[in-house]
Amino acid sequence: MSDDVPAVLRVPVIGGKGGEAESLRARVEELEALVVRQALDAFRGGQAVHADALARLARLAQYRDDNSSEHTQRVGALAAGLARRLGAPDRTVALVRQAAPLHDLGKIAIPDSILLKPGRLEPEEFEVIKAHTTLGARVLESDDPLLGAAARIARSHHEFWDGSGYPDGLAGEAIPFDARVVHVADVFDVLVHERPYKEAWSMADAAREIVAASGTQFDPAVVAAFEALGPAGWKSSGPA
Ligand SMILES: [Fe+2]
Ligand SMILES: [Fe+2]
Repeated sequence: MSDDVPAVLRVPVIGGKGGEAESLRARVEELEALVVRQALDAFRGGQAVHADALARLARLAQYRDDNSSEHTQRVGALAAGLARRLGAPDRTVALVRQAAPLHDLGKIAIPDSILLKPGRLEPEEFEVIKAHTTLGARVLESDDPLLGAAARIARSHHEFWDGSGYPDGLAGEAIPFDARVVHVADVFDVLVHERPYKEAWSMADAAREIVAASGTQFDPAVVAAFEALGPAGWKSSGPA
C-alpha cells in the first residue's frame, strides 16, 4: 500500500494470525467511527449553512417591511414563546423561531408605489398587497421542514380564526398552527412600534387589542398563551 493512504485505511491482509484479525477488526471499527463522524460533521455543517441562508433571506425580507428593521426577528422570538407556552415540542418551537422572520418575504415582489404608499389603499391596491402571502409561499415551498414551515407561515399569517382573512379564507384549526402564533406576534409587534402611518402603542393597549380580537381574528388558545406570557414574555417584542 502506498504511503499516501491514510493510516486508518492501511489494514493488514486477512487470514493472518489471531492478533492480525483482531487488529483488523479494531481498524474497521476505527474506520466506521471515522465515517460516522464525517457524515455527522457534514450533516451539521449542512444544517448550519441552511439556517444561515434562511437568516440572510429573512434579512432581505425585512428591507421591505416598512422601516422597522428588527421587526422580523422580534416576531420570530415572540411567536416561538407563544408556541412553547402552548406546549409545542422543542423542534416546532425552533422551526417557528427560524421560519417566522420570513413571513413577509413576498413583499419583495410588491411594487413600491403600493407597498410604500402613504394613506389609504384603493381596493385593487389592497388585492396586490394580499398577494404577498402566496408569492412568499411560492418561493419557500419545499419538502424541507424549515422551508415548509416558512411557506405555511408566509401563506397563512393573515388568515382570521373566523374565516374572514386571506388568502384562502381558512378558519379555526384549518389555519396551520405556526401561522396562528405568528399572526398574534406580528400584529402585537406592529402595534407596539411606530410605523409611518401610526404611533407606537403602549404594551397594555396593544395587549387589550389582541385580547379583544380573540375568537374573531385570533385563535383563542394563542391569545390565552399570549396573556399567560404577560409583559415579561412580550418583551421580546416590546418597544426598544
Ligand atoms: Fe404579512
Ligand atoms: Fe410583519
